Amino acid sequence: MKQALMRKLQLHISIIVFLLAQALSGWAQPINWTEVAPGIWKGVVGTPETFNLLTASGAKPNVEALKKLGEAAFPLPQNDIAAQVTDGKTYVRFPLEKNEQLFGFGLNFQTVYQRGKVLELHVDHYGGKDNGRTHAPVPFYVSSNGYGVFINAARYIKVWAGTGVRKDSPNFPEPKDRTTDKSWKSRPYSDAVEMLIPAAGTEIYVFAGPKPLDAVRRYNLFNGGGCLPPRWGLGFVQRMMTRYTAADVENEVNAFAEKGYPLDVVGLEPGWQSKAYPGTFQWDTTRFPQPAAFIGNLLKKGIRLNLWINPYISPDAPFYKEIRPFTASHTVWLGLVPDFTMPQARKPFFSQLQKDQVNIGVSGYKIDEVDGYDYYLWPDVAMFPSGNSAEQMRQTYGLLLQRYSTEMIRQRNQRTYGLVRASNGGGTSFPYVIYNDYYNHEDFITALINSGFCGVLWTPEVRASKTGEEWLRRIQSNVFSPMAMINAWSSGTKPWTYPEVEKQVKAFALLRMRMMPYWYSEFAKYHFEGTPPFRAMNLEDGFMQRPQSETSGKVNLEENPYAEAATKEIKDQYMAGEYLLVAPMFAGQTSRKVVLPKGKWYDFYTGAFAGDGEVITVTPGLDRIPVFVKDGGIIPMMPPVLHAPKAGQKVDIEIRYYGEKPGVYRLYDDDGETFDYEKGQYNWREVKVRRIGNAIQGSISPAVGGKPNTIGKVTWTLMTK
Ligand code: GAL
Repeated sequence: MKQALMRKLQLHISIIVFLLAQALSGWAQPINWTEVAPGIWKGVVGTPETFNLLTASGAKPNVEALKKLGEAAFPLPQNDIAAQVTDGKTYVRFPLEKNEQLFGFGLNFQTVYQRGKVLELHVDHYGGKDNGRTHAPVPFYVSSNGYGVFINAARYIKVWAGTGVRKDSPNFPEPKDRTTDKSWKSRPYSDAVEMLIPAAGTEIYVFAGPKPLDAVRRYNLFNGGGCLPPRWGLGFVQRMMTRYTAADVENEVNAFAEKGYPLDVVGLEPGWQSKAYPGTFQWDTTRFPQPAAFIGNLLKKGIRLNLWINPYISPDAPFYKEIRPFTASHTVWLGLVPDFTMPQARKPFFSQLQKDQVNIGVSGYKIDEVDGYDYYLWPDVAMFPSGNSAEQMRQTYGLLLQRYSTEMIRQRNQRTYGLVRASNGGGTSFPYVIYNDYYNHEDFITALINSGFCGVLWTPEVRASKTGEEWLRRIQSNVFSPMAMINAWSSGTKPWTYPEVEKQVKAFALLRMRMMPYWYSEFAKYHFEGTPPFRAMNLEDGFMQRPQSETSGKVNLEENPYAEAATKEIKDQYMAGEYLLVAPMFAGQTSRKVVLPKGKWYDFYTGAFAGDGEVITVTPGLDRIPVFVKDGGIIPMMPPVLHAPKAGQKVDIEIRYYGEKPGVYRLYDDDGETFDYEKGQYNWREVKVRRIGNAIQGSISPAVGGKPNTIGKVTWTLMTK
């Protein structure tokens, strides 16, 4: 009897203690927010770790540009945001409204809508599922309601993006009987995004809109703005077979010239090194007996060299001994894993690259295999000499390599533009494009769309194809991406490998060159204004999105073209720069649907009217990838040269104008190679076009004296007759 009473008492005491602990630990306490830049707030929960995504990347906000975006109110009801540290982990909850859709959470390949997902954000190669394991699992999401949320933690963050239902939810759905009620749902309505960060605190950032694109722009500018590649980075890239010798490369480069194909960058794969996997970071002198002369010859032809590396160090590397104390407990392919958070590891590594390669003219790197695959990368039990955990290093390794390699090349006041297989939050400003080994064309396009939500660049690289048709379709979309590249490291393919489509492939490679003034200006907008050059339709005005569950029953697209856009995610068409809508064709397709946002749209090639806020069906034939231009669109073009113009070289510009509305375009100009633009050495030229009947009146503002002006003769073309 007495014992039973005691037990009851104990139980009561533990409940009281639990409730008290909850109150004291601030169960679901609101967060204190500090405005750190106009429209950006920082909240601190618990004790955040000092090593995080922003310290790893060293990102510095572009405060001036953020000021131009203007003041904004906190975009969410603050009392509905809650956080708590329990069990050494940080629990965070953000509210979700009924009609809200979510985008982002990193470089996903198969889905654009993220509401309803359960993810674990973990740097990894892409394994065929959108589960959070990806090359850039950026913990940033954007809401269709026009705000963004970023978790600044270098941790494997778990996300329940609108799946959990709390018993105290003000929107608690009515429970139903599954046996008798057909409207019972296995996934009942959830009104929150919940995240679990395995650390005893975190920094959280909230970005205001008002539009989703504004939140993305604020996020990008907060990270320093997007990268501004050198002009040559936007030309054509061909990666050589891994065992090619200097002579093989020279032959291939000559073949490009003889056949009239553009070429700006040649990439060498692992075979340039005396040993790879793990690497020596030294030339293989049997294949490349005179690297300096070899690079000099390429440069004379206007071609840059990019070198493949992965950062794992062979016992035969000249700096092996020096770096060994500053490497992880575990190896990758038996190579040492430098702790790049430590200057003692960076110095020997980057000195070797600088002395042996960059100083003789190497333009940049392809930084491979920093993403992982659990079977070859260091395990999470590995120790790093800095004391940062293996998990933190996994989440930031790609960032660290991008950061310090860019800094190394910047010492020469030289821009770079390379490839990397891992990135993360904070990496927006790095001049690197993500690629991978996966090869699904459709999914490559969805990744391109999603890259715009997470401040990274992605290339749907082309390697080989089963048919000429597939080859051409892949090349066509690759030409409308951040890096136009054939990666022939294993296949040895060339642009002309499929004779049946050779003519078209060449036309598209040349189109890439002709569009350089447009691409370059759009990247400048990424840098100075934060607008991603390649982005989802959902960021476009006049394009709507709603959660899938919103509508039921069949919709008649002819009567209501937006029904589809509103319910189904659009993951096979995207915006490229200010004015272009690109709708790739995939092998086997002869026609496809294109959802045109509200407003008039015109065919890029002919200028003909294509539609206005409707779903159209196009049958473009093999010669074209469907591309549409917004009303009033201006596309600056240049002649189809085989190499990007050099610093200061004058280039004639053709201004193409589409539609009816008066058009405005800001054309960016600088030396195209150095960082002098950071000191104001650039020009924005304002282009204006008005249509008068079937003629046009155009003007271009003068270049500011004493600043770069590479614009030669300007001609004007009225595309829409
Ligand atoms: C892969 C990479 C390929 C190629 C290859 C060379 O990991 O994704 O593009 O570089 O390594 O070994």
